[in-house]
Amino acid sequence: MTGRLHGVVAMDGPSGTGKSTVSRRLARESGAAYLDTGAMYRAVTLAVLRAGVDIDGPPEPIVAIATGATMESVTDPDAPAIRLDGEDVEDEIRGGAVTAAVSAVSAVPEIRTMLVERQRAHIAKALTDGGGIVVEGRDIGSVVVPEAPLKVYLTASEEIRAFRRGSQDRKAGRDADLATVLADVRRRDRLDSTRKTSPLHAAPDALVLDTDELTVDDVLAELLRLVQERGLV
Ligand code: DC
Repeated sequence: MTGRLHGVVAMDGPSGTGKSTVSRRLARESGAAYLDTGAMYRAVTLAVLRAGVDIDGPPEPIVAIATGATMESVTDPDAPAIRLDGEDVEDEIRGGAVTAAVSAVSAVPEIRTMLVERQRAHIAKALTDGGGIVVEGRDIGSVVVPEAPLKVYLTASEEIRAFRRGSQDRKAGRDADLATVLADVRRRDRLDSTRKTSPLHAAPDALVLDTDELTVDDVLAELLRLVQERGLV
């Protein structure tokens, strides 16, 4: 156990690096809030799919649906949740339909502007009275909070990430054949890294941590060491 975190820890990186698990654990161990920004992009995507809007069509209807949806993120690391129009959609946003569509929806610049604004509001709320928050995503250190006092960018090889993602899916009762998961990891990496607005990349001052050879406990230990070293606890 460390002291209580104050300030923002920005955790970025592609899918399957263990980002969610370690971010959540870091928040729990340091008495901080936890914000999963990927869940926000996923929830908006779910709203768009439910409305029957073509995700590859013009952006206006996508933006209209996203603007009209009420989304609520619960930032308690012991029970993080996301609600769409009052409904808990935590399970549904992890399913295949949303996973296949989320990169297209999150590439729409107006969607990013809207969600970045909401993310900053969550961060501001957590920081009042000297609190702390661990925020995970793709553009947290580069766009959402470039002034974060600790930015970490997690990486791992495609194969390891697909393996981890597949195990996670199977544990949650979803189908996960390795070849399919690997193809999806590659497709999303490509889309997320090549989109025009806020493509996935490490902020120049982010600490890059390759997790191929590291367990979740190893990464967490390194993060706890870093927050102490930076005087954030
Ligand atoms: O972390 P995740 O796999 O749940 O994220 C889902 C998608 O959302 C991911 O493919 C890219 C997008 N995303 C984003 O563009 N920016 C973020 N800050 C977080 C996620």
